[in-house]
Amino acid sequence: MCGIVGYLGTGQAYPILIKGLKRLEYRGYDSAGVALVNQGSVDIHKCKGKVSDLEDHLNGVIPEGTLGIGHTRWATHGPPNDINAHPHASGNGDLAMIHNGIIENYATIKETLENRGHVFVSDTDTEVLIHLIEDIQSKTSVDLFEAVRLALAEVVGAYAIVVIDKKNPDRMIAAKKSSPLVIGVGSDGDYYIGSDATPIVEYTKNVVYMEDEEVALIDRNTGLKIVTIQNKEKVPYIQELEIQLETLEKGGYDYFMHKEIYEQPRSIIDCFRGRMNVQQGTIRMSGIDDHAEKWINARRVIIVACGTSWHAGLVAEYLFEDIARLPVEVEYASEFRYRNPIIYEDDIVVAISQSGETADTLAAIEMAKEHGAHIFGVCNVVGSTISRTTHSGAYTHAGPEIGVASTKAFTAQVTVLTLMALSVAQKRGTISDARLHRLIAELNSIPDKVEEVLKTNDQVEYISDIYKNAGNALYLGRGSSFPVALEGALKLKEISYIHAEGYPAAEMKHGPIALIDEEMPVFVIATQGQSYEKVVSNIQEVKARKGKIIAIVTEGDKTVKAMADHSIEIPKTDESLVPLVSVIPFQLLSFHIAVMRGCNVDQPRNLAKSVTVE
Ligand code: AGP
Ligand code: GLU
Repeated sequence: MCGIVGYLGTGQAYPILIKGLKRLEYRGYDSAGVALVNQGSVDIHKCKGKVSDLEDHLNGVIPEGTLGIGHTRWATHGPPNDINAHPHASGNGDLAMIHNGIIENYATIKETLENRGHVFVSDTDTEVLIHLIEDIQSKTSVDLFEAVRLALAEVVGAYAIVVIDKKNPDRMIAAKKSSPLVIGVGSDGDYYIGSDATPIVEYTKNVVYMEDEEVALIDRNTGLKIVTIQNKEKVPYIQELEIQLETLEKGGYDYFMHKEIYEQPRSIIDCFRGRMNVQQGTIRMSGIDDHAEKWINARRVIIVACGTSWHAGLVAEYLFEDIARLPVEVEYASEFRYRNPIIYEDDIVVAISQSGETADTLAAIEMAKEHGAHIFGVCNVVGSTISRTTHSGAYTHAGPEIGVASTKAFTAQVTVLTLMALSVAQKRGTISDARLHRLIAELNSIPDKVEEVLKTNDQVEYISDIYKNAGNALYLGRGSSFPVALEGALKLKEISYIHAEGYPAAEMKHGPIALIDEEMPVFVIATQGQSYEKVVSNIQEVKARKGKIIAIVTEGDKTVKAMADHSIEIPKTDESLVPLVSVIPFQLLSFHIAVMRGCNVDQPRNLAKSVTVE
């Protein structure tokens, strides 16, 4: 994972690096470090912990230099400590490098280098690479740009790297393969580097998204040059960013996650915008319209994703099968790619990813591509690797999601997938005009309903206080509320560190019921719909064993309310759209419990926002 930032320009690098690292900290927060070239030396400052720990470590000292690099780490090789923190130096101390990714053949390279006299101080794969670059430079006397290229030709694995040299304050070298890297081209010869555009957007809107196996030379005098690992020169493609700086700030909330939960009425509208016409009852999605024949004749839809995005995929399974009558399989990307699955040329593979950088999802896409399937991406981050790798797609337009626990990205994904299912159903003739109009009108009313649910915040906070010390929790739902139960449990686990399980309500009696006692909170989605009566029976089963029931019910419900210890009312909507509203109280609940337990809501332990390792 990790966040990478770099600067070469006319101003001081340090403030830009620190600010950039804070914006990128969601990518990893095991350690932080910077290296600046100044008056013939390269000053490296790094330590275990967050960017604020690095600032404390510097104790008011502001490193000087107009060329510098910075890193926040998500450890893969070696524990999070000061020594393994990036930047890493070459053996002679001339070079400093930051790295995101994994050098898979680092052990063999390390052995060869050790035999040649290299001494390593850290456990990282990264240090091996910078020594390899140094070794090539000293053996062949090529310049640093060429040495980086030659070294990368020997490397197996994933990397986004930036290298600087104390002997050359006018240059930085960057390269990438399977980990993202963006170069910002400012006015006045200023250049910025970031793992994504967030550290750059404040200074320039002109960016180059580097492609795999490209090496970039950024030179104060000659500008930007890009070659491939095979030494073929490429013309840098500069594009304009649309992201606004204000959307990256907390906007008055104490936590990004809280802000992002409250943004959902707006982010759902942003998903419709330009796609859904309520009056005419039509959906326009160019990613689908331009490949209409593929969707009409599709044999199957295979959805690949991880985590929350996988839960959105499970909701989509209900929608596509019910409305578009297309068979759907929903796969964990990591399992799918190692299973030798059967993929036909007339399958459509839908990859769902907020970040658009998830390594497992990317690998699943590559495999499906080799089998000739049509690949459709549902991504949030514009210009992300997955969005560029797929044949077509639809952005979720939720805006930057900084909190590691996904909230608005989930509802945006479900909204886009709903639009897709409706569009495909219309093309395949599997939905009546009346139902299509009804569902479009209902989808259009969802943002107001989400706004209503957000008003239950105080009630949810009250319930959170009662259950904040629970050791375990069970989440139950049926139909498309089952993925919401999974999502509720995931939210609680990842930010409150309370063990939680999501189950189809009817499955409870096949095992988890053994866990139920008076200590166990059971969160149940018991909204009106075809399984309502069955869920009522499941609630009775929990009550009979003294479990505590916290139910999400449809406004005006009496039956479940009478049985539950607590119930949260949500507005009535079409059964197929319930996940968009029923997930909100679960997001709020996990948020409040995490705050009450003193957990780091936006940056939970061991997690990272963008999982770019397999
Ligand atoms: C969500 O709260 C999690 N942090 C995580 O499961 C996430 O959804 C998963 O890593 C997938 O990420 P992506 O959507 O960026 O591919
Ligand atoms: N593999 C490197 C390390 O463990 C980089 C990890 C990252 O991407 O943060 O330090």
